[in-house]
Amino acid sequence: MMGDVAEILIHSDQIQQKVRELGGQITEDYQGKRPLLVGILRGATIVMADIMRQIDLPCEIDFMEVSSYGSGTTSSGVVRILKDLEEDISGRHVIIIEDIIDTGLTLSYITRALRTRRPASLEICALLTKPSRRKVDLDVRYLGFEIPDEFVIGYGLDYAGSYRNLPHICVLKPEVFQGTPT
Ligand code: XMP
Ligand code: MG
Repeated sequence: MMGDVAEILIHSDQIQQKVRELGGQITEDYQGKRPLLVGILRGATIVMADIMRQIDLPCEIDFMEVSSYGSGTTSSGVVRILKDLEEDISGRHVIIIEDIIDTGLTLSYITRALRTRRPASLEICALLTKPSRRKVDLDVRYLGFEIPDEFVIGYGLDYAGSYRNLPHICVLKPEVFQGTPT
């Protein structure tokens, strides 16, 4: 698999260090509370599994899966909920766990949808963001890394369903994109 990789952008050691920092911040900020971590499937599965073990508090997890209508590689802002939460979030301290923010449209939709359910608080934790691509303002309380406008894979992020199990955040070789149906 590493043979398809052009460059390691963020090494797993750096990711683990950052996840420890973010988990530590969440632990401080939510003292005396019992946060509900909401992972966005499927990309956030790896960061969810790692970050929850760095949070030294009683907490629960839940998952949502969404799909954005549109061209496939860029978000349209129109989002469909494929799998909704199992938990009632009213009165809960909710932290959304996301792998990457690109335009911000997906998270903007999700936060609007979840606010209508009256959580006690709602914050966003995202491992990666591409600031140059942002189309909407988003208040991201816990942020891992800013990256340039490049398509990245690994640590939960996929290309055509593959590469999620790479331990590092990587850029693919251009020839991998050629002729591969998605
Ligand atoms: P928006 O634009 O709504 O998009 O913020 C967020 C979603 O777009 C996907 N995305 C990526 N997936 N490598 C990926 O594997 C990338 O570089 C990338 N950029 C955006 C991702 O599903 C994210 O949830
Ligand atoms: Mg995603």
